[in-house]
Amino acid sequence: MKDYMAPMEGITNHIYRRAYHRFYHPMDKYFTPFISAKPNKRLSFKEICEVSGETNEGLCVVPQILTNNSDDFIQTALLLKEEFGHREVNLNLGCPSGTVTAKGKGAGFLGEPEKLDAFLDEIYSRLDMKISIKTRIGTHYEEDWEYLLNIYEKYPVSELIIHPRIQKDMYKGRPRLKAFQKAAERLSIPVCYNGNIFCSQDYEKLVLQFPDMERFMYGRGLIANPCLVSTIRNKKQPDKRTLRAFCDQIYGDYQELLSGERNVLFRMKELWNYMAPTFTNYEKYAKKIKKAQHLREYEAAVESLFSQQELDPEAVQGGI
Ligand SMILES: Cc1cc2nc3c(=O)[nH]c(=O)nc-3n(C[C@H](O)[C@H](O)[C@H](O)COP(=O)(O)O)c2cc1C
Repeated sequence: MKDYMAPMEGITNHIYRRAYHRFYHPMDKYFTPFISAKPNKRLSFKEICEVSGETNEGLCVVPQILTNNSDDFIQTALLLKEEFGHREVNLNLGCPSGTVTAKGKGAGFLGEPEKLDAFLDEIYSRLDMKISIKTRIGTHYEEDWEYLLNIYEKYPVSELIIHPRIQKDMYKGRPRLKAFQKAAERLSIPVCYNGNIFCSQDYEKLVLQFPDMERFMYGRGLIANPCLVSTIRNKKQPDKRTLRAFCDQIYGDYQELLSGERNVLFRMKELWNYMAPTFTNYEKYAKKIKKAQHLREYEAAVESLFSQQELDPEAVQGGI
């Protein structure tokens, strides 16, 4: 079995994944949030932290690239290979955000299948690297999946990570498991499942339905409950002490990396949006965290949540 951490812009960056790897079930691969490929691309400091071996020591990190231009993809992939030693890159064909899809990138690229086919033809013929793909199953109609599968089948995709939603689903509703099943049955390239795994029961349901599936990617459910994969794999139950140490590590690292209280608070609040609902009676504590303007207010709110409430991660359900 292989477990992967999902790329999540603003969340699963090098600070998060390093702390995760230290405290919880190590992932087989960590995918970076997307890096936009542009002509003559140079990496920003933030992007270097995402892909460099120094800031990701001991972790198998796969950089993700967002573009619909094959030259830009190839140039960025080569930069990642030559300057940072990466042997695999991942293509983002899933981002549903309007600003990305309006430019025909991310999930938006799925709406131009001929162009996508030509793009894949270029990158697979010109690059001597593993190229995995993270995809949704279409833009507006599930029926388009069939056509997209015909395209993917033609290329040596090192791994096809499928989030079985269409672009217009955004992150709502249940994953479209029939479409996933179609891919799992038909493709000979390795397939990975992604979407709505929030608790071990969600995972068990998937295993019942797809007994041969060996690769799983975890996103929001893992951020809500970082012990999720430790429970799935080793029956380890979440405990407040580990979670506190994990949060303190991230908080401390952000204080070192970022300048100003506001930036640190912004990042931590984003995490707590996911994590707070895994505590009993969390609402008033979550509100205090959200309202905190200074680190001391934030620290007091987190301290009272940990000391006064218990973990109840089963309260957060994904729906498979
Ligand atoms: C805040 C946020 C940021 C995300 N950023 C990325 C990204 O940079 N690249 C990507 O491929 N997917 C991104 N995703 C999608 C996730 O990787 C994942 O496919 C999605 O959340 C479904 O999996 P889940 O139900 O386990 O969360 C993002 C999702 C969220 C909620």
